[in-house]
Amino acid sequence: MSSKLWGGRFTKSAEEWVDEFGASISFDQELVLEDLQGSLAHVTMLKQCSILPEEDADQIISGLKSLQEKAEKGELTFKVEMEDIHLNLESMLINEIGPVGGKLHTGRSRNDQVATDLHLYMRNQTKVIVELINDLQEAILEQAKKNVETLIPGYTHLQRAQPISFAHHLMAYFWMLERDKQRFTESYKRINISPLGAGALAGTTFPIDRALSAELLGFDGIYENSLDAVSDRDFAIEFMSNSATMMMHLSRFSEEIILWSSQEFQFVELDDTFSTGSSIMPQKKNPDMAELIRGKTGRVYGNLTGLLTVLKGLPLAYNKDMQEDKEGVFDTVKTTVGSLKIFAGMISTMKVKADVMEKATKNDFSNATELADYLASKGMPFRKAHEVVGKLVLFCVQNGCYLVDLSIEQFKEASELFENDIYDALNPYEAVKRRNSAGGTGFAQVQLAIEKAEKLVSK
Ligand code: ARG
Repeated sequence: MSSKLWGGRFTKSAEEWVDEFGASISFDQELVLEDLQGSLAHVTMLKQCSILPEEDADQIISGLKSLQEKAEKGELTFKVEMEDIHLNLESMLINEIGPVGGKLHTGRSRNDQVATDLHLYMRNQTKVIVELINDLQEAILEQAKKNVETLIPGYTHLQRAQPISFAHHLMAYFWMLERDKQRFTESYKRINISPLGAGALAGTTFPIDRALSAELLGFDGIYENSLDAVSDRDFAIEFMSNSATMMMHLSRFSEEIILWSSQEFQFVELDDTFSTGSSIMPQKKNPDMAELIRGKTGRVYGNLTGLLTVLKGLPLAYNKDMQEDKEGVFDTVKTTVGSLKIFAGMISTMKVKADVMEKATKNDFSNATELADYLASKGMPFRKAHEVVGKLVLFCVQNGCYLVDLSIEQFKEASELFENDIYDALNPYEAVKRRNSAGGTGFAQVQLAIEKAEKLVSK
């Protein structure tokens, strides 16, 4: 006979290396506290429904609580022979309180148990991630508040386009993160439902009260269908998809920080804590953390694709393939939590080189639109104005100068509509200030956006 908790029907034990391949304890021990929490709710329900005698239930409850204490102190040692977190804890319970511990699994299966654990885990981690997004938003806001009137070239196609406020650029990420926060928060309602009591797949003959165990665990409700309850991993996919989108945002931001801290741009300098040197080139200061976050985005995408692929061919209900859900979820949590923390630190300690940024806005043609707008506002059709200014830019390129270097006579030669005030229009500060349409980079608009944003972050 096999020594397994499920060994009754078996005549021999599996070989150790086969056991090891099938076991999940090396990673699902991450769920130790959630598993104990689920078991406590289950046994409390069994007691209240008089499915277990009070005395037995109380013994189980105190056994589980003592395991909880040990788990919190990191004093539990798990065994591969016991396969997974559920069987490890059950056998520990039996060791602790004797055969009565074997009554815990009445009216329950590991299939609804593991689903419950994962729901509890995702619920906790979603709260952590929402908090961390909030912290990063605060760090962005703080930098933005200091840089409303800091000018930076705005780019399209990575070519200088129009000057903008640096705060406006930073705040673009604030709003992306706000959507991420909303996505995680909205998904929460699909995480916070209870599969417990679905049994292996079909429910149970015991008169259990699923609503009660759900309530004890703080779930908002129960799965309507027992097969769906044990087979559903949509909530994990949704979580990883939300994480993938968020990491994509962090990766784009990382890419900009990497560019900005390069010798070519020199727009920002990262704090030493978030940079590393080279073992051979003494002058190097590399934006390693930003690069790593950009790189780690790949594994978060991989985890999402992995789980989608694991599930796509599975018939209902539980299949062992589903054990493959956990590592990707844990890795996604670890990666997003780490990335968010690093990012907040990197942003709040980042030195903004306003003088370099501003200088860049003066040594280019990013004020060409101002000139075209100037002519258009004096009645010239915009298309025509575009052409007139295009020719002036070409003249400058051919003669090695910028638009501000042209004399008023040269401007007038291009169009009689040009007056002396053209030089004000060409000033990048004025150009930014005047872009006051809703959501634009005008200082007043940026200020307004910061005020709105401040109401969205909880302190
Ligand atoms: N270790 C398993 C998992 O992670 C628990 C559920 C096992 N259920 C079963 N019938 N083998 O998915």
